[in-house]
Amino acid sequence: MAETVSELERYLQLTGKSKDLWEDAKQYLPGGDSRNSIFWAPYPIFVDRASGCHVVDSDGTDRLDFIGTMTTLILGHSPKAVVDVVQQQLQQGVVYNAPNAHQIRLAKLLCERIPSFDLVRFTNSGTEATLNTIRAARAVTGKSKIAKVEGGYHGSHDQVSVSVRVNPAKAGERSHPNAMAATEGLGDGTLDQVVVIPFNETAIALKTLEGNKDDLAAVIIEPMLGSVGMLPATAEFLTMLREFTKDNGIVLIFDEVISYRAASGGAQEYYGITPDLTSLGKIIGGGFSIGAFGGRKDIMDLYDPTAPGGPRVAHAGTFNANPVTMLAGAATLDELTPDVYRKLAEMTEYLRAEILKVGAELEVPIQVTGLGSLFGIHFTSDELVGYRDIAAEDAAFRHQVFLGLLNEGILMASNLVGAVSTEIGKAEVDAFAAALRRVLERALAPST
Ligand SMILES: Cc1ncc(COP(=O)(O)O)c(C=O)c1O
Repeated sequence: MAETVSELERYLQLTGKSKDLWEDAKQYLPGGDSRNSIFWAPYPIFVDRASGCHVVDSDGTDRLDFIGTMTTLILGHSPKAVVDVVQQQLQQGVVYNAPNAHQIRLAKLLCERIPSFDLVRFTNSGTEATLNTIRAARAVTGKSKIAKVEGGYHGSHDQVSVSVRVNPAKAGERSHPNAMAATEGLGDGTLDQVVVIPFNETAIALKTLEGNKDDLAAVIIEPMLGSVGMLPATAEFLTMLREFTKDNGIVLIFDEVISYRAASGGAQEYYGITPDLTSLGKIIGGGFSIGAFGGRKDIMDLYDPTAPGGPRVAHAGTFNANPVTMLAGAATLDELTPDVYRKLAEMTEYLRAEILKVGAELEVPIQVTGLGSLFGIHFTSDELVGYRDIAAEDAAFRHQVFLGLLNEGILMASNLVGAVSTEIGKAEVDAFAAALRRVLERALAPST
């Protein structure tokens, strides 16, 4: 407990200007920001500038960025390939009231790389992307309910704001989780529309799904639980979902907003399991706001305005497929060759090994999860199967480590998930491991 205070004290000493900005921000923005997912206690740092894998806060502290805007910046901050095309486009208009050719290039790249993509549509966020996959699934099946796993995050619209970071004490049995509201303000009946299954518990989940098969339009799943802890699904679990949905005329949706980092064809390529629809976001916009959804032609055709009678599913968005985002996304994907994916995965594997080494030397139980360039640090030797295992970890200790890493010049997500960019090399990984070692040594030191 004394050491928690000590990391906190160090943090307070280092972040005075951020604190002033936060106090100022709170006068106009509830809680001082517009994104609750990146708030941490006692207050977050305010970023002044960033470049490559470095982020500099308002107090002038330079930190290594091991999260890249919640996994988005796979090439680091302001990569030249992206900045050049965006600067050029800014001279030619930012957004038009008619289509632009750049979206064809990004659409083609995605359709060529992602196994499930016959056709794709762009949005401005991953939230809009998952919303559209679910709406399309309902339209094509004529059914309404969806199934999702406990702990799965799919953005902030009503239908998926169910059973995300639940309190296990209130959420029913692990094997039969209750549908829990992730926010106040959901519409009446929202919870009744969602069947919640436990992640990676194949037989139990199948039983629940079988019991609801006549009502389900879709099963939506992150092939790797992303923001809650970078926990990959087992191939067995995903295979069960694929077979169950296929056998019962239910749409299988992979939400690859984060897991698309796993391989150039996403986690679906990694696992060799092709869903009917897929939602994307984050890296495919090169740092600009984006989402995309795509999949089977017969489903995506529901959006076709040239169909007799017009599109069966409405889809609009003032900034959808704007040229700046499309160019930034295509420039990013152009850089992401198979060789780059291989190097990213190797560097992340080196990071995982170095973290484990620190844990072994200091006798702190650590597991490092994740796929490709994504990783999550877990301080437990218990088997990590699903959300409840992550929720059982010591939250106070994790927060102490997070603040400690900030104090040591490392930025991750506050729940210790991270992402490696192409700007991160061996030197940065070694710096990460050394920082973690110092933080854990302080945490283990007897309190005075
Ligand atoms: C798996 C997943 N789906 C959907 C979303 C929502 O994306 P956005 O924040 O762009 O709305 C996120 C965001 O973190 C995500 O991790």
